[in-house]
Amino acid sequence: MDKPTDQSRMDKIVSLAKRRGFIFQSSEIYGGLNGFWDYGPLGVSLKRNLKDAWWHDMVAGHDELATPPGAPQPYEMAGLDCTIIMHPQVWKCSGHFDLFHDWMIDCRESKKRYRFDHLHGRWASHRGKKLFVVTDQSGDDALPHTVTRALKGFGVRASKVEEIEWLSGLESLATTVHAQTVTLADALGPDAGEPGTLTQPREFNLMFETRIGAVAGDDDDRAFLRPETAQGIFMNFKNVVDTSRVKVPFGIGQIGKSFRNEITPRNFTFRSREFEQMEIEFFCKPSESADWYRYWRDRRWRWYLSLGLTEGKLQLREHHPEELSHYSVGTADIEYAFPFLAPGEFGELEGIAHRGDFDLRSHMEGKLVRQDGQLVVEQGPDGKPRHRGSGKDLSYFDEISRERFVPHVIEPSAGADRAVLAFLCDAYHEDEVPDEDGKPRSRTVLKLHPRLAPLKVAVLPLVKKDGMPEIAIDLYRKLKVHMPAYYDEKGSVGRRYARQDEAGTPWCLTIDGRTLTDGTVTLRDRDSLTQDRVAVAEVVDMLRDRLR
Ligand code: GAP
Repeated sequence: MDKPTDQSRMDKIVSLAKRRGFIFQSSEIYGGLNGFWDYGPLGVSLKRNLKDAWWHDMVAGHDELATPPGAPQPYEMAGLDCTIIMHPQVWKCSGHFDLFHDWMIDCRESKKRYRFDHLHGRWASHRGKKLFVVTDQSGDDALPHTVTRALKGFGVRASKVEEIEWLSGLESLATTVHAQTVTLADALGPDAGEPGTLTQPREFNLMFETRIGAVAGDDDDRAFLRPETAQGIFMNFKNVVDTSRVKVPFGIGQIGKSFRNEITPRNFTFRSREFEQMEIEFFCKPSESADWYRYWRDRRWRWYLSLGLTEGKLQLREHHPEELSHYSVGTADIEYAFPFLAPGEFGELEGIAHRGDFDLRSHMEGKLVRQDGQLVVEQGPDGKPRHRGSGKDLSYFDEISRERFVPHVIEPSAGADRAVLAFLCDAYHEDEVPDEDGKPRSRTVLKLHPRLAPLKVAVLPLVKKDGMPEIAIDLYRKLKVHMPAYYDEKGSVGRRYARQDEAGTPWCLTIDGRTLTDGTVTLRDRDSLTQDRVAVAEVVDMLRDRLR
């Protein structure tokens, strides 16, 4: 908590994202809406390229005839696109209706709401009075915030700050309240003027609720925006098996919006209320599921590296047994060292979970709970299932082994927005390049992988005369058939390079005096800054090859 973050770097990334049209606050002209973000012209391309890369590498481009490295055997992949609103029973049997909540805490004085597990505090004393001073800030903002809060709580002027004695380091409020070393009566809330204004923690379900149909009011028309795309895949498991001739082992991939009414959205797009997920549910034989779990964990790790994420900033973290969900046999998170986190801290990009037969059985039999190590249907007070399943048979008959079983599921579940944020943070660099006169000038550059870069190439006539624009426009049109290209004739060529560096464009082609005589252009590389002469007639094929 008290270690410094790279906040100034993060601030610059957020500012670049806004200035260059990657990411805007939703409904900004009305003051914005917390936890909702819009992708601007460059951002929408970056996010689309990321989702396309995932879809291609995991689903559409998958070769079901070959055994990928590390996989136990060849397998098939199929795609889906399911609805955001589904039958309410889906969420009752999946467990989201009863269990998908966070603990929140309110302040009676400031009327602010906080996530209980996000609050930290430390004991302070002043002239015999003791307070547990609570902050909702994290990283290097937390300690200074407690100092400001303590001055307010004790009614002490800033010039007398040394009169306050600190009796402990920062501790989690939830942990100290559970351990009964702090009572809420002693706690000074993050925005309160006096102690004892924080309410007891309460559960808060994160699903957004809506109503179906014109007549609202009855409990039967209550519905939910999906908090994950995964359930749509389980709903269609049987449809896909029956219609597409896939055989276990196989996977179903889906990309789509999910919604969570997060209590405290924060850290730019990292924790949003509306976001996109890229999820695979991989169905396999129970006896082979541990091997498939390892395969997907390692495969997904390599995917982020293949798109250029810095390995030293990534972490693969296996969950401890006590962290696992009640149904999970194993889970690993792929995490990234985001600049808004303190050194040594990582934020989750993707979880790869071994879910056993929990999901398919829940939707057959009803909501399951673990009792004495077994998954059993949870009973209501009347002895009947608490949430009734569909009653449909979701087991699978393997024609080769002549066995019937409920497939086990491995779930690699990634967030598209978090991945975009990680790639943006990783790509952000500040360095120095020589200007047109050879003098060093500082530049901001996004070193995005060419597959992810919103624009692949910019075409720049050195001057707006001597036939250079005509050659440049002709080349731009030839390129645009194959890749996102940009034509720019405004400003000095140095300024035009700088604009493309900030947008993350890997290559610039400059048409100059030599082009008129020998038919070559300058190909400038964003990262190495090399400038090579390439024949105009060959440059389109050359860049297409590089993108392949
Ligand atoms: N079906 C499993 C599932 O949804 P999860 O860990 O809750 O698992 C998967 O979510 C991924 O979705 C996370 O690793 C993260 O990348 C993304 N995600 C979850 N909540 C998010 C939020 N509030 N804002 C942005 N991305 C989020």
